[in-house]
Amino acid sequence: MSLKAIVTGGGSGIGLAAATALAQRGMTVACLDLNPPGEPFIGIKADVTDDASVRAAVAEAAERLGGIDVVVNNAGIGAQGTIEDNPDSEWHKVFDVNVLGMVRVARAALPYLRRSEHAAIVNTCSIAATAGLPQRALYSTTKGAVLSLTLAMAADHIREGIRVNCVNPGTADTPWVGRLLDSSDDPEAERAALNARQPMGRLVSAEEVAAAIAYLASPEAGATTGTALAVDGGMQGLRLRPTN
Ligand SMILES: NC(=O)c1ccc[n+]([C@@H]2O[C@H](COP(=O)([O-])OP(=O)(O)OC[C@H]3O[C@@H](n4cnc5c(N)ncnc54)[C@H](O)[C@@H]3O)[C@@H](O)[C@H]2O)c1
Repeated sequence: MSLKAIVTGGGSGIGLAAATALAQRGMTVACLDLNPPGEPFIGIKADVTDDASVRAAVAEAAERLGGIDVVVNNAGIGAQGTIEDNPDSEWHKVFDVNVLGMVRVARAALPYLRRSEHAAIVNTCSIAATAGLPQRALYSTTKGAVLSLTLAMAADHIREGIRVNCVNPGTADTPWVGRLLDSSDDPEAERAALNARQPMGRLVSAEEVAAAIAYLASPEAGATTGTALAVDGGMQGLRLRPTN
């Protein structure tokens, strides 16, 4: 019997690629998003900042899928600047989406996951959780929280048979980064700088992140919980010498 998955932020970028990768592995997939996709996925409109919306969407997904085995907590938003640049309201807003959003979705899905033989949660974290990036104080803090949340949840739910892991993408070529480039004074130079920041000299693709998510979500990763899998072109772990 095929596994059933829900993917938040499944309407774009990494989430859409993850939904595609899970479907390619034979899973049936519901995408929860402010702008959900259509076929071949079950698209369900949901706002992860609204607990009632999340509970209704997760219940609808479970009903239409016939249960939930896999949760991909991926919906997220960005923020730029140092701690002087974002007002308190912005901190609350970004935490509400990036951290509490994952809590709400996982909380609503837990009763279904407990009934699954292959329960797994995969959170989309970031290189920003483990490396100090300039002008990303708020965003990085939310992703640091996602890393800690992943470990804490892995411990809390291991005896219920629910695995919890995260992926840490480097800068990935998604509509999000496209918007970031478009808003910069010199998009070409900005893209070149982002490419150069990664030891592989290029951005990560959404499909590469999705493959890591699909692996961690699948029964093949049955002995893996409480881990962070970097998909970052070597950005976290490598220290290269300059080429010239
Ligand atoms: N693109 C990168 O370089 C990169 C790097 C590391 C981590 N990430 C993380 O990957 C995840 C996906 O990013 P992406 O680049 O694919 O972005 P994206 O903007 O292409 O997609 C994000 C999706 O989340 C949805 N979303 C946003 N707020 C929501 C809400 N309140 N409720 C429901 N859905 C909501 C959006 O509608 C969108 O479809 C995020 O958690 C992001 O932090 C991205």
